[in-house]
Amino acid sequence: MISKGLPGFRDFPPEDLALRAHIFRVWREVAARYGFEEYDGPPLEPLDLYTGKSGDEIVAQLYSFTDKGERQVALRPEMTPTLARMIGARANGMKKPIRWFSIPQLFRYERQQRGRLREHFQLNCDLIGEAGPLADAEIIALAIDVMRGFGLGPEDVRVRVSDRRFVAFRLAAAGVPDELMPGVFRAIDRMEKDPDGASRMLGELQLAPGAIDWIVRLTDRGHVDDLLRARATVSTPLGATLDWLDKIGLADWIDFDPTIVRGLAYYTGTVFELFDAKRTLRAICGGGRYDTLLQSLGGADLPALGFGMGDVVLGELLKDRGLHPAIAPSIDLFVAAVTSDDVPYVLKLAHELRDAGFRVEYALNGNPVGKQLNLANARGARFAIVIGPDERARGEVQLKDLMAKTQEAVNNTSLVSHLSSLVASRPMSHDPRP
Ligand code: HAM
Repeated sequence: MISKGLPGFRDFPPEDLALRAHIFRVWREVAARYGFEEYDGPPLEPLDLYTGKSGDEIVAQLYSFTDKGERQVALRPEMTPTLARMIGARANGMKKPIRWFSIPQLFRYERQQRGRLREHFQLNCDLIGEAGPLADAEIIALAIDVMRGFGLGPEDVRVRVSDRRFVAFRLAAAGVPDELMPGVFRAIDRMEKDPDGASRMLGELQLAPGAIDWIVRLTDRGHVDDLLRARATVSTPLGATLDWLDKIGLADWIDFDPTIVRGLAYYTGTVFELFDAKRTLRAICGGGRYDTLLQSLGGADLPALGFGMGDVVLGELLKDRGLHPAIAPSIDLFVAAVTSDDVPYVLKLAHELRDAGFRVEYALNGNPVGKQLNLANARGARFAIVIGPDERARGEVQLKDLMAKTQEAVNNTSLVSHLSSLVASRPMSHDPRP
């Protein structure tokens, strides 16, 4: 019996790895355009890095165990605590704001559903050491430009933005006391995913009926518009962040949405999530400001914000829209031997061509030339080079263009430069692996 992999864990055959590599490539390209530097951390961390700060939901999903040295450890479910520890420990000597990104593989024992697995890769972009609202706009603009990097537009993806400070201020005005604020945020976070659970949570909080009504109406368009107008009258940075995004030219991606509060416990200000516009998929990206996390982990007192963008929902959206990369041929050239006496010449020429940067394959058995050319076609090779006794005697090879279905004799001495000029219009070194 062939053993199966674990549920929620993926194999990546080359066609799937090509999509992952495409996603990683765009992530790295856009992060670099914003001046972000790449970092990484360990996949296994002390359990208490998460138990205190990340929130109950993520802690319940941890892959944790006791190692052979009796340490309580966990596979990382998110990158933010690792980043906060790394920066907190070395921030003093670093020029602010710090712009770092990473592409960790993360592990959460989640209930499996479309877009949610038990491992995923996540682009993390974080900006540390700047408290002003332009930093919030910069991080949101980066997340949007990643979407644009994949060919997606505001008609495909919406950015739902809110600010815990602003919503807390308005909740207080609606009669929610400070000590009940965390519970109210947890209930608001559930309103869309689990409306019954959210009502139950609100009921248990023993809020005044007017406050419950105010919270439930957060999903009404009219109520949201009133709130949005009120932002100018409240001195929280939400208004400034939205105005900066407008100045950058990205306002048409943004929806103010006070039901976005984020499930993780450490967020303190601006919060946002990216969803496909039709809302048929889970969140593509989520992030926000976490100004107290670094200090609470024992590090420097620095404001910070960032986002995590997963590869699973994004990959589905790209496939849905036909924006995934076409499968590229694995080789440029196939070198075929007519007789067994030609094989040593094939090997030598193939080696020279590989040194010159071409992707080259030849037959590893004594198959007749017809079968060798079948393999060349199956690989999608553009060219086949055929070497037989006659060609060797004349110091040349037969060069077949398998796409154009033409053939010419080419002198050995000019072969590399001739091939280079023929394929100049196509990339020669293609490696889909990250
Ligand atoms: P998060 O909302 O838990 O945030 O995850 C961010 C994104 O990762 C989600 O929007 C989703 O695309 C993807 N994701 C999360 N869990 C899964 C899963 N089980 N399967 C597939 N994809 C998943 C965080 O993790 C924060 N640490 C992000 C952050 C960085 N905040 C500030 N800096």
